Amino acid sequence: MIEFSHVYKQYDDHYPVLKDINLFVDKAEFVFLTGASGAGKTTLLKHIYMEEFPTTGQVFVCGHESKNPKRSDLPFIRRTIPMLRRKLGIVFQDFRLLNDRNVFENIAFAIRATGASERIIKRKVFEVLAKTGLSHKCSHIPSQLSGGEQQRICIARAMVNDPLVLLADEPTGNLDVDISHEIFNLLKEINSWGTTVIMATHDQNLIEQYHYRRLVLDRGSLIKGGDSTVKPKEWKSIA
Ligand SMILES: Nc1ncnc2c1ncn2[C@@H]1O[C@H](COP(=O)(O)OP(=O)(O)OP(=O)(O)O)[C@@H](O)[C@H]1O
Ligand SMILES: [Mg+2]
Repeated sequence: MIEFSHVYKQYDDHYPVLKDINLFVDKAEFVFLTGASGAGKTTLLKHIYMEEFPTTGQVFVCGHESKNPKRSDLPFIRRTIPMLRRKLGIVFQDFRLLNDRNVFENIAFAIRATGASERIIKRKVFEVLAKTGLSHKCSHIPSQLSGGEQQRICIARAMVNDPLVLLADEPTGNLDVDISHEIFNLLKEINSWGTTVIMATHDQNLIEQYHYRRLVLDRGSLIKGGDSTVKPKEWKSIA
């Protein structure tokens, strides 16, 4: 479902933030992605939804290939990205809710791009709001919701197109223990329907309590949980 093959990522003249990542995540797996702040968790997730491209190496996601794009690849990439993102649900570290629209519109926005009719949009939005327990908040704007409620709206928005893969970047960051468990249970439930879930987290409580595979990043290297049989190359060799 998701594969990283010798992926290096280097921003401009900076030290590489991902180093020789080799990784395979299967359909319907639940995987934790951990590592200290700045280790490269968000950058790795961005490679899955093609917000970033490898400097070298390849990423394969749901049948789409991503590599360092040449100029001539750009039209192909512009067509590929929307096709890929329709198969993914993304819960961003910084929420990215539209603050001038209510909860219903925030979620509906994610389906409108697929060209669905208003009747279907309404049905699907109310379905995911019921699943996340937030039907009664549908006409609120994000600033009228608690942090945990906003996070559940982000999950509802990520679920609404029935994704094959759900990427959740620190979905329990800054939430108290009870709310964190609520959010986590929601992700587990989504996973039980067959959706692959990759959750970036610092939450040691959750990691220790649930024995899902754990990918550990250390300053850009995957030191545990991946398919890292290949010795990382010296970063300078890719510059
Ligand atoms: N667009 C960018 N340009 C240059 N450097 C970047 C860019 N995005 C991220 N970085 C750097 O890449 C490294 C990894 O960042 P990333 O956001 O992936 O870490 P993270 O593991 O998600 O951290 P956190 O736990 O704090 O969210 C950091 O050193 C960061 O400064
Ligand atoms: Mg991050």
